Parts: sequence; C-alpha cells; structure tokens
Amino acid sequence: MNRMSLRFISVADNVGLARVAVAALASQASFSLQDIDEIKVAVSEAVSNAIVHGYPEKSDGEIQVTGVLDGVGLTVTIEDWGVGIEDLEQARQPAYSKDPERMGLGFVFMESFMHGLHVESSVGQGTRVEMQRLVTMAGELSRDAQ
Ligand SMILES: Nc1ncnc2c1ncn2[C@@H]1O[C@H](COP(=O)(O)OP(=O)(O)O)[C@@H](O)[C@H]1O
Ligand SMILES: [Mg+2]
Repeated sequence: MNRMSLRFISVADNVGLARVAVAALASQASFSLQDIDEIKVAVSEAVSNAIVHGYPEKSDGEIQVTGVLDGVGLTVTIEDWGVGIEDLEQARQPAYSKDPERMGLGFVFMESFMHGLHVESSVGQGTRVEMQRLVTMAGELSRDAQ
C-alpha cells in the first residue's frame, strides 16, 4: 500500500507535474507501460479541467491530487475549490464543452481509460473527480484474448 498527495496552484505547467507524480506512483504496481500512459492521459485531462474550467480567472487556485495504491489498483482523486459544474450530466456528455473552442472529450477519455469514474461538484464550491484503475482488468484481459 502506498499513498501520495500533491498540492499545487492552477497554472498550466502543473499538469505535467501531476502526470509525472501519478505515473511514478503507478509504476510501483504491475501496470504495463500502456496502462501507465492511459492513466497519464486521464490525470492530465482532470487536472487541465481543474485549471482551465475550475479557475477560469485565477492562476493561484488550489488543486490537490491524491494517489492511493493498494492490492486492487490505483485510485486518483483530483480536487479543486473553484467554480464547480452546474449540470454534471451535460458536462459528461461526449463532445460537450462550455467553450466552443474545446473538444469536450476530457470526461470521455477519463471514462474509457479508467475502470471507474466518480464526479462530485457544486457551484461555487468546487469539483472532485475520483478515478480508479485496476491492476488486472479490461486492458490486460482483452490483450490476452487477442
Ligand atoms: N474541474 C472543473 N470545474 C468546472 N467545470 C468543469 C471542471 N471539469 C469539467 N468541467 C466542465 O465540464 C465540461 C466538459 O469537460 P471535458 O469533457 O473535459 O471537455 P472540455 O475540457 O474540452 O470542455 C467543461 O467544458 C466544463 O464546463
Ligand atoms: Mg477538458
């Protein structure tokens, strides 16, 4: 069992910081390199969302990323105390974005690369995204079946 917590402000450079920290934690378990790449994408999407959408007008907003490794797999939590999400169901729709310049695929990537995604948010309070990646699941099983 291992656990780490990383707290940083809402500047774009910290996406890489969070991604590298979570990947280093994940590499302590028996994930494949492909698994770790997918975890990195999911973490990047959630942290970018916290920076860009959670704190649209701030570059010193607080963001916390926690990673927990246990016998089952890796659980990553990305939390911000920013503007929050008004309509979570709409936000999670593929291709939905509040910003027409964006692709609206962040939640889709998180969902497809992780085995569980749980989002809680309230307007004016912030957003908490929890995602889990199991050590032996879909990825490995489908590769074995090929
Ligand atoms: N941490 C967050 N704080 C506030 N709003 C968020 C957050 N994460 C996601 N959202 C909302 O959910 C929408 C969809 O997110 P996503 O699927 O990543 O697409 P995109 O980032 O391309 O808009 C965003 O446009 C935004 O309105
Ligand atoms: Mg996004």
